[in-house]
Amino acid sequence: MDSTDTELEDIEVELLVRALQRRHGYDFGQYSPASLKRRIQQLAHTQGDGTISRLIERVLHEPGFLQVVLEGLSVPVSEMFRDPPVFRALREQVLPVLASYPQINIWQAGCAHGQEVYSLAILLEEEGLYERTQIYATDFNESALRQAQEGIYPAKEAQLWSRNYLEAGGRHTLADYYSARYELIKLDQRLRRNVIFANHNLVADEVFCEAQLVVCRNVLIYFSDALQDRTLALFRHSLVRGGFLCLGTRESLDFAPSAKDFTPVDAGLRIYRLGGRSAVRG
Ligand SMILES: C[S@@+](CC[C@H](N)C(=O)[O-])C[C@H]1O[C@@H](n2cnc3c(N)ncnc32)[C@H](O)[C@@H]1O
Repeated sequence: MDSTDTELEDIEVELLVRALQRRHGYDFGQYSPASLKRRIQQLAHTQGDGTISRLIERVLHEPGFLQVVLEGLSVPVSEMFRDPPVFRALREQVLPVLASYPQINIWQAGCAHGQEVYSLAILLEEEGLYERTQIYATDFNESALRQAQEGIYPAKEAQLWSRNYLEAGGRHTLADYYSARYELIKLDQRLRRNVIFANHNLVADEVFCEAQLVVCRNVLIYFSDALQDRTLALFRHSLVRGGFLCLGTRESLDFAPSAKDFTPVDAGLRIYRLGGRSAVRG
């Protein structure tokens, strides 16, 4: 591809981003440009007869195509107990503190197909805290949210997820929490009893709950620095003083203006606590 082609493609990317914003109110203008472009190119390949212009046309004129684009641009990839040491740290260092609250609110932002929500529900159940917990699981991808509510996954994932669960300090076996049928597993729907799944766009929507723990992993990596700052400010406003924030292992607070408001609990595992050291002691 020569420089003119690259320039033309950049213009098309800009036009697609504008079309999504003006036609549907979804703003990808502050996503990290390189990875956004890669995903748009893939989408053009699978849904646009190889061109971004065709994607723009479909976004503007085809009802229902927005969902296809959101699915393509949002990367709803996840796994249960992903990064097991993080879940072990939540179990051993965070939940014992949350246990002191009579009612626990958890906001899990960017829940994708729900694997992380069910993992949190299992942790809370095993630590005896689930009855007094409300989990708000949000994403801006409606079809991912629907799949998250169903809790049905390919059975081939179960082996890795079972290993993750045990590494994360699981007290039973993961199989105790699902039933298997043919090529699928279905998670015990009782795990969903204290979960509210809701559409929430981190780019445009505001804080909607007061939380003791915000878990948002592998979402900020797709955002520009400015959008990361906006999102972190949202989490800061949602958290009670002394509340916990858990980010993805490739994400960090270090360079964000919000960093000064947080104290690392385990910086390597990206678990932080709102408040200076004296505010969070004990
Ligand atoms: C890679 S998945 C992360 C899933 C899970 N948190 C994990 O770490 O396994 C990223 C998720 O972020 C969601 N997402 C991306 N941009 C978003 C936005 N502006 N508002 C809400 N969710 C968003 C995507 O739809 C996708 O489900």
